[in-house]
Amino acid sequence: MIVITGATGHVGGEAARLLIESGVEVRLLVRDAQKAAHLGAAEVLEGDFADPQRIADALNPGDRVFMVSLYETHDERLRKHSAFLEAAGQADVAQLAYLSFVNAAVDAVFIHSVSHAETEDMIRESGVPFTFLRTGLYQSGAPLMFDKGLCAAPGGNGSVSWVSRRDIGAAVAGALRTTGHEGKTYNLTGPEALTFGQTADRINGLLGTKLAYEDVDDFDRLLTKGLPDPVAMKESRRSCFYSIRADEMSLVTNDIRQLSGVPAAPIDRHILHYREQLLACNR
Ligand SMILES: NC(=O)c1ccc[n+]([C@@H]2O[C@H](COP(=O)([O-])OP(=O)(O)OC[C@H]3O[C@@H](n4cnc5c(N)ncnc54)[C@H](OP(=O)(O)O)[C@@H]3O)[C@@H](O)[C@H]2O)c1
Repeated sequence: MIVITGATGHVGGEAARLLIESGVEVRLLVRDAQKAAHLGAAEVLEGDFADPQRIADALNPGDRVFMVSLYETHDERLRKHSAFLEAAGQADVAQLAYLSFVNAAVDAVFIHSVSHAETEDMIRESGVPFTFLRTGLYQSGAPLMFDKGLCAAPGGNGSVSWVSRRDIGAAVAGALRTTGHEGKTYNLTGPEALTFGQTADRINGLLGTKLAYEDVDDFDRLLTKGLPDPVAMKESRRSCFYSIRADEMSLVTNDIRQLSGVPAAPIDRHILHYREQLLACNR
């Protein structure tokens, strides 16, 4: 059985939708079954990563499991990831496909890349057969980088291979539906890397906006925009810009196509689809 966590979210939801539509039997493991009812899965069980017993009860030997990463501070993320992993180990699952981040490394500039690397290390050490699905920065994050028409931040000339969450969901589905991915690491990126200036130019060209980029050290307004916990996660946003400056997020690969059969979409599709959100960044 394929088990999808995070199915009430964007990436897990897309993976679940594609698998269910293609006739694969899927068990969803979510915090609130009501929120996943529309997906029409064969089974929906409830469990929070922080409750390993509940998670272990929901997993069976031989299951192929998508483990979403949790958007938390460094310590909280590791605590809950470790609890989930303990449960997956107990249950003797056949594959754990973990949603990681490009350039996951303990010495990365980006704080979240450090906790992703530490999670990958825990998974390797656990002996559970793994697949690491490292994603680039989501295209949906681009509007968070502009405020009143300006991205004033210390990104330097670094570039970002903005990636679509729909494409990641499709790659997750591919990694679980097809065989031979155990022990492998994939980098799920967009098809091109753009600097902030080039990102602004792309949006302006498609929508007629006048967004601009300025490389500055003082960037208070953008530090907390759109964060789930602005106080605790401010430093992660700060490190995100310095990480881009250090070119940690510019990798471009063909891995989305390899796993899903469909090439990664450029940011243009997202810009046109979320036109209103991007127009609002202009004001
Ligand atoms: N690459 C990037 O640019 C980027 C940006 C932001 C985040 N991320 C990471 O990518 C992950 C997936 O992205 P997404 O867009 O699919 O996120 P999303 O739409 O926010 O979905 C997150 C999912 O995780 C579930 N979840 C949260 N805490 C949980 C817990 N303690 N136990 C069990 N499930 C829990 C949520 O369930 P509920 O519906 O119950 O809340 C939801 O289904 C994020 O969680 C984050 O770690 C990456």
